[in-house]
Amino acid sequence: MIEAELLERAAVISGKKVPTDKWIDVIDPSNALPFARVARCGADQIAEAVEAARQAYETIWRFTNAADRSRVCRRIAEGLRAERSELAHLETLDTGKPISQSLVDIDVAARYFEFYGSAVEGLSGDAILPERDLLAFTLREPYGVCGHIIPWNYPLQVAARTVAPALATGNCCVLKPAEDAPMTSLRLAGIAIEAGLPAGVLNVVPGYGEEAGAALTAHPGVDRLAFTGSREIGEVVMTAAARNIVPVTLELGGKSPHIVLPDFDAERAVPLIVESITEHAGQNCSAGSRLLVHRSVHSELLSALTEAFRSLHIGPGATDPDMGPLISAKQRDRVLGYLAEGRRDCVVSVGGGVPRGAEYADGFYVEPTILDQVTPAHTVFNEEIFGPVLCVSVFDSIEEGVELAEQTTYGLAAGVWTSDVTTAHWLAQRLRAGQIFVNNYSAAGGVELPFGGYKRSGIGIEKGLEALREYTRCKTVAMHTRAHA
Ligand code: NAI
Ligand code: MG
Repeated sequence: MIEAELLERAAVISGKKVPTDKWIDVIDPSNALPFARVARCGADQIAEAVEAARQAYETIWRFTNAADRSRVCRRIAEGLRAERSELAHLETLDTGKPISQSLVDIDVAARYFEFYGSAVEGLSGDAILPERDLLAFTLREPYGVCGHIIPWNYPLQVAARTVAPALATGNCCVLKPAEDAPMTSLRLAGIAIEAGLPAGVLNVVPGYGEEAGAALTAHPGVDRLAFTGSREIGEVVMTAAARNIVPVTLELGGKSPHIVLPDFDAERAVPLIVESITEHAGQNCSAGSRLLVHRSVHSELLSALTEAFRSLHIGPGATDPDMGPLISAKQRDRVLGYLAEGRRDCVVSVGGGVPRGAEYADGFYVEPTILDQVTPAHTVFNEEIFGPVLCVSVFDSIEEGVELAEQTTYGLAAGVWTSDVTTAHWLAQRLRAGQIFVNNYSAAGGVELPFGGYKRSGIGIEKGLEALREYTRCKTVAMHTRAHA
C-alpha cells in the first residue's frame, strides 16, 4: 500500500518542499486511474532551483572533499536499498512495469551511487612534463550547476545514472523528471537529504517538458545539460544548449539489431532476444528491436521466438507478469499506429494488437508482437517504436547483415550471435553502435559499462568511469620551474 503522505508530491528545492496550487495527475498505466499528483512547476520554480544549486555549489559542494562526497553518495545508496520494496512498488505503480523489474531498477540505482561514490576518490588529473623547465598538470573540476532531464521508462535508474556522477564530482543538480513517471525521482530528493546531502545540492522539479523542461534548458545559470528521451526533443535541448554554449549529453534511443549467424546457440539466444524486446514492454532505449537473421536459420529461430512470445503472461505490474502495460494511452496509440502499418505490409507471426480480455480493457496494454519479412525501406524497420515489437529481416551473407544493421540512422546497441570468435570480433569492430553484445544482450544493468550512442542515437557517454570524466572539465596549470638554477 502507498501511504496517503505519498499521494501528493511537491518540488524539492534547497532541501524543502515547495508549496504549489498547480498539479499534474499521475496515472497507473494498468488501470488508467490517477494514484497521485505532483507539482506542475514552470519557469519560476526552475529559476529558484537553479539559484539554490548555484548557492550550494559556491558555498559548500565545490569545497567538499571527494572523500566526503563519496561518503554521502554511498549513504544515498544505502537509503535507496533501505526503501527497496517501497520504491519498487512506487515505480511499478508509476510506470506499469513488472515488480521484479522495478526491484532490479532500485538495485541498479543504488549501484550508481555506490559506484560513482567510490570511483570519484580515484579521480585525478595528469602531470605533463613537456620540456625541462616546465611542470604542467591538469585538474578535473566540476562544471557547477547541471540540468538533467529524464524520461519515464526507467525513472529512478536513469535519475541515478545521470545525477550520481554529477554529484560525486562536485556538481550541483536540478533534475526534471518526466511528467508520466515522476514519483521515485521526488523520493530520491528526500533520501538524499536524509543521507546528509546538503540542501540545494540536488533539487528535483517536476513539470511538463514544454514548461519546466524548456525553462531548465534555456536557463543561463546552467553550466551543463544531460537529456535522455526522444530524438525530436534531443534536438530541441541541443538547440537550447547551443544558445548558452553549454555541453550536453544526449541519449536518444535506437533501433538496435540482433545479427544472428547460422552457428548461433539457439538455447542461449532465444530467451535473451525475447527479453531484449519485452522487458518493460519494449520501452527501452537499447531494446533489441530488429532481428536480422541468416536465411538458413530464419524459420527455426522464428518459430522458437513465436512460441516464446505466445507463452508470455501479460498483466498489471504488481502481479509480476512477464510484461506489463505501456506507460500511457499516447504511447499505446503510437505503438498501435506502427502495428497497423506492420499488419498492412509485413507478416504478423504473433500478436499484432491489443490483448483480448476484460482484464486488459482499462490499462494501456499491447500484445508482444513479431513482424516478419520486414523490408529495410519500411517505417517499422527504421523508426523507434518503443513497444514490444520485434521486426524480422533475413540476409544471405554477413556483409548483407552488416549493411542491414547499419541502415538506420541510429547506433545505440547491437547483439551478435555466433560461435565463431573471429567473426564475433570482426563484427564488434565493424558495427557502428555504442555497445556491442556478443552472445549476450543488455549485460545486467551495466553500471560499469560505458554507454553512448553513435549516429543519431546521441552524444556523450553515460555509465562507467567514462561518465565520471564527463561531469568534470579539464583545467591545465603550467608552471615555470627554474627557480634555483
Ligand atoms: P520526450 O522526449 O518528449 O520526453 C522525455 C523528457 O523530455 C521528459 O522529461 C519531458 O518532460 C521532457 N521534454 C519534453 N519536451 C521538452 C522540451 N521542449 N524541453 C525540455 N524538455 C522536454 O519523450 P515522450 O514524448 O515521452 O516519448 C516519445 C518517444 O520518445 C517514445 O515513443 C520513444 O520513442 C522516445 N523515448 C526514448 C527514450 C529513451 O530512453 N531514449 C525515453 C522516452 C521516450
Ligand atoms: Mg514528448
